Amino acid sequence: MSITLIGPAQIPSMGFGTFQLEQDTVADMVAAALSEGFRHIDTAQAYENEEQVGEGLRRADVRRDEVFLTTKILPEHFSPEAFIAATEASLKRLGTDYVDLLLLHWPSRDVPIADTISALNDLISAGKVRHGGVSNFTMDMVNQAQAALNTPLAANQIELHPLIDQTRMIAHLDSKGIPVEAYSPLAQGKVMENATLREIGNAHDVSPAQIALAWILTRPMSIALPRTSNPDRLADNLRAADIVLSVEEIAHIDAVGTAEGRIVSPGTLAPEWD
Ligand SMILES: NC(=O)c1ccc[n+]([C@@H]2O[C@H](COP(=O)([O-])OP(=O)(O)OC[C@H]3O[C@@H](n4cnc5c(N)ncnc54)[C@H](OP(=O)(O)O)[C@@H]3O)[C@@H](O)[C@H]2O)c1
Repeated sequence: MSITLIGPAQIPSMGFGTFQLEQDTVADMVAAALSEGFRHIDTAQAYENEEQVGEGLRRADVRRDEVFLTTKILPEHFSPEAFIAATEASLKRLGTDYVDLLLLHWPSRDVPIADTISALNDLISAGKVRHGGVSNFTMDMVNQAQAALNTPLAANQIELHPLIDQTRMIAHLDSKGIPVEAYSPLAQGKVMENATLREIGNAHDVSPAQIALAWILTRPMSIALPRTSNPDRLADNLRAADIVLSVEEIAHIDAVGTAEGRIVSPGTLAPEWD
């Protein structure tokens, strides 16, 4: 498998997403993903499954230091003291001394970015967090976060799949050397119905989902985080990293995305998108 390591944090380019998995399947699926060859697990305080993710990590026959583990903290905990306390609670639930990547899950409407990032700097200095990043940040917010962080910003985790046009954000992050983590890389299953992806999938004898993942990995500095509750799909999703798309195929898929393709935009959390 061509799982490359991306950016300053050396993030494995294919990660396993754990949002909206049935609670009683999380530990089994995390262990199965690791056994299949995934070495990157993405969770969040908000998914209320950190204990099960920790259980899956312990159950798998893989050392902790071989796995790249990410969690995320919600804005209600963005004052510096609350951010540190929330991270420590996440570490406890995960059953680990550190996470590889800690993300500010959504931008706060109240707490200045620099205040939260100062707490993130402290967590990194204390060895509880290896790398810091953000999620759902606009270009200006990314710049503010990078200016306040003492280490290179390891990622902006954003909605990215063939149905949404994220060209400007990707170019912005690329110009700053900041990796893009693609969440909902399968558009929560919608990519399966897209005619362009189906046609290209047929030509490669793979599914539209695999084409979507392969296309994401052709974007500069990009990482894909597919979620599945089906153990049989783990290998397909991992193997998508080996699909080689032609320049013409990439151009066809580039033309699919639109500004209206966004799926995830909760009113209480989403910023005014760029
Ligand atoms: N930072 C954020 O705000 C944020 C927001 C959303 C998501 N995320 C992260 O990104 C991860 C992925 O996004 P997501 O959970 O929204 O959904 P997603 O990965 O885009 O799509 C998951 C859906 O695709 C289906 N699927 C998976 N592999 C498939 C395959 N090979 N062929 C056909 N269908 C397939 C799954 O069905 P089956 O289960 O039946 O396979 C499921 O219905 C999350 O789990 C989470 O870790 C982050």
